[in-house]
Amino acid sequence: MDRYCVFGNPIAHSKSPEIHAAYAVQTGQDISYERRLAPLDDFAGAVRAFIAEGGKGANVTVPFKLEAVKLAQALTIRARAAGAVNTLVFSDDGIIGDNTDGAGLVADIVQNAGVAITGKRVLLLGAGGAVRGVVLPILEHRPAKLVIANRTVAKAEELVEQFAALGGEGVVSACGFAEIEGQYDIIINGTAASLSAEVPPIAPTVFAPGALALDMMYGAAPTVFLQFAAQHGAQLRDGLGMLVEQAAEAFNLWRGVTPATADVLSSLRAKL
Ligand code: ATR
Repeated sequence: MDRYCVFGNPIAHSKSPEIHAAYAVQTGQDISYERRLAPLDDFAGAVRAFIAEGGKGANVTVPFKLEAVKLAQALTIRARAAGAVNTLVFSDDGIIGDNTDGAGLVADIVQNAGVAITGKRVLLLGAGGAVRGVVLPILEHRPAKLVIANRTVAKAEELVEQFAALGGEGVVSACGFAEIEGQYDIIINGTAASLSAEVPPIAPTVFAPGALALDMMYGAAPTVFLQFAAQHGAQLRDGLGMLVEQAAEAFNLWRGVTPATADVLSSLRAKL
């Protein structure tokens, strides 16, 4: 039986073991997947110990996604662009670092919500690690434009500079929340504001008729950002779909099969 795990600190809350167990049953893959609490000062040691025990791959969550970049001996293009690794593959050639978060977000929008990104106006709120991880996969779907708005405008501008060379030239731009112009078809909240029940100060006019509003956070109740978006007519998605889809991407990377996600998503939703 091949072994996988998720590293984090804390880790008790992680839903990844439940998600991967469901994917394994569904696809008939004989794997185990466990939680591993890595010490804050020895993520590398925890990974090496798991490899020594025969581990084949791992997910990486807070606060180790940046350290995992350094630990990996090879990075996928999307992991390098994201500057963060959430999935490790332990191969004969060494440790490979990937990032499936952005692909998970895109799959949730395109497949689960049924909303095409191609040709759409996309607004990304925030410019931290969560946003950096999703820019390239969004650009690959060729939106008409992608505006990155952040409280600290300089950080959004840095992202624009980085992604101009990766297909974002003439598509990606940056601004502050107060300077957002026009309407958007897809509005994604990747700020940490929802954690403190705050809404990024954006004008309600950004929501185009029928817009999709997505918050990367999730909880039993809609986040304050989603409540705000609902008041202005948007259709809503929280981050639970992204979580389930990034796991499906990782599962596919490890096992070469793509699990169906709908049942897992609704079963997690029922337990929130
Ligand atoms: P993460 O990895 O979750 O993205 P991060 O890299 O610390 O975490 O980034 C947090 C993001 O949330 C940043 O874009 C931050 O804005 P600043 O760059 O201006 O700090 C944003 N953020 C955090 N709290 C916020 C709030 N109350 N309102 C708006 N934006 C907020």
